[in-house]
Amino acid sequence: MNLVVVSNRVSRGKANEPMTGGLAAALLPVVEKSGAIWVGSSGRVRDGAQKDPFAEIEALGAGALALLDLPAAHYGGYYEGFANSALWPALHSRADLIRASEEDYLSYREVNAFMARALLRFEKRETVLWIQDYHFLALGAELRGLGVTQPIGFFLHTPWPARAVIGAVPHHRELIEAMLAYNLIGFQTSDDCENFISYVQSDLGLVVRNGVVTSRHGRSHIAVFPIGIDAEKFALQAAKSVSHPDVSRLRRSLNGEKLAIGVDRLDYSKGLVNRINAFDRMWTSQPALARAVSLLQIATPSRGTIEAYGNLQSELAKLVGDVNGRHGEVDWTPIRYLNKGFSQTVLAGLYRTAQVGVVTPLYDGMNLVAKEYVAAQNPADPGVLVLSKFAGAANELDTALLVNPHDIDGMARAIATAVSMSLAERRMRWEAMMVKLRAGTIQQWFADFVDALQETQIDKAAGEPLLAEPATSWSLRSVTVNSSTRYH
Ligand code: F6P
Repeated sequence: MNLVVVSNRVSRGKANEPMTGGLAAALLPVVEKSGAIWVGSSGRVRDGAQKDPFAEIEALGAGALALLDLPAAHYGGYYEGFANSALWPALHSRADLIRASEEDYLSYREVNAFMARALLRFEKRETVLWIQDYHFLALGAELRGLGVTQPIGFFLHTPWPARAVIGAVPHHRELIEAMLAYNLIGFQTSDDCENFISYVQSDLGLVVRNGVVTSRHGRSHIAVFPIGIDAEKFALQAAKSVSHPDVSRLRRSLNGEKLAIGVDRLDYSKGLVNRINAFDRMWTSQPALARAVSLLQIATPSRGTIEAYGNLQSELAKLVGDVNGRHGEVDWTPIRYLNKGFSQTVLAGLYRTAQVGVVTPLYDGMNLVAKEYVAAQNPADPGVLVLSKFAGAANELDTALLVNPHDIDGMARAIATAVSMSLAERRMRWEAMMVKLRAGTIQQWFADFVDALQETQIDKAAGEPLLAEPATSWSLRSVTVNSSTRYH
């Protein structure tokens, strides 16, 4: 089998370089090992008709990284426009932030079609394609239009919202019909999966039986594949990284005070304003915690040309300034606020240094920072994860302190509880989370999805539904799949 993985953003495989977004960091080690070709945007654009759209093809582990310059005329409408100003807000249940024109939609479709044409270069009889994320909802349909018959899978890294919310996206029907060109559609959680199925049944009027829907494209399997991390490797990296100069400097600067850490892209879905307000509330209501605990908030800018992101950056800068002004002392800064990215190596050491990890998104597909924070802890003296119940990770990390990110007082109390939690309770909670992380690694996720995708072809040949589970249970996790296995 030749595997071709496609995502908008890719990673170049340098552990010491900053990486933006969970997707690129998560995929890198498994794509490297698998020998797959990873196709994505070079981050540059080009004018006019392109003879060879691939700007660079370079080795990546056992496989290759192939980067495309996307068409200049359509890039803005595709990336800042439809993908990140229509789909992203809707997928995170912020229909109020949808801003996209008809041109944006056309550009989105153009870029999907452009990517499909470029992918023909890697088409062989035994090729299997795996498309990542909301940037390419229509790529499968474009590939089918070009005559590609090989298995094509799709995995959504973000949440999938309720029917009414996705219904606020212009051309939602056309796009979701196009998604059914994928043989396998994977989601992070069963809620996402159920929301998608509800749309397919109610709005498209199609029957979904045992996780299989038949449309004009043929059969599509719909299932849950919660993404994981390599917890053992991350733990080793964290233990080593404490001696990294950036991490050592941070440790020296703490003077015995405890540290809470937040690491996010600067995005309205991450709940950063509410988080800062919760710290403000905590220091106001429990003044003894001033000087006892401070926050290191890393907020890496992305999509900065989109108005909602620019507004958020200004709002946060002002809010952090206000809170620091209110609670700070000549020798104590409550919040260290950094608008830059860090490498995975440094982040691992920072997580291990912090006694509290705060991951409080309003909505999040999975949130791998939550998993990385847990994996990075010192087993003898682990920190406490304060986690939003609206992050996909909360399904597995249910012994974290789960919070409602809209409840500022509740978050303030949870952070204070985390700061003073006994060692025995911290270890008990942490060990339970590590069991989950070790069971659901990124390697397992990758293998499960690719196996299930290949299985869809066997199913196609047999003409029988593959998933024999009741419609309420979609998880394929821990099922060993081989050519003679049915999921059960
Ligand atoms: O994980 C969701 C995601 O949108 C990925 O698709 C993307 O790589 C990441 O967040 C970062 O977003 P961006 O590439 O727009 O900065």
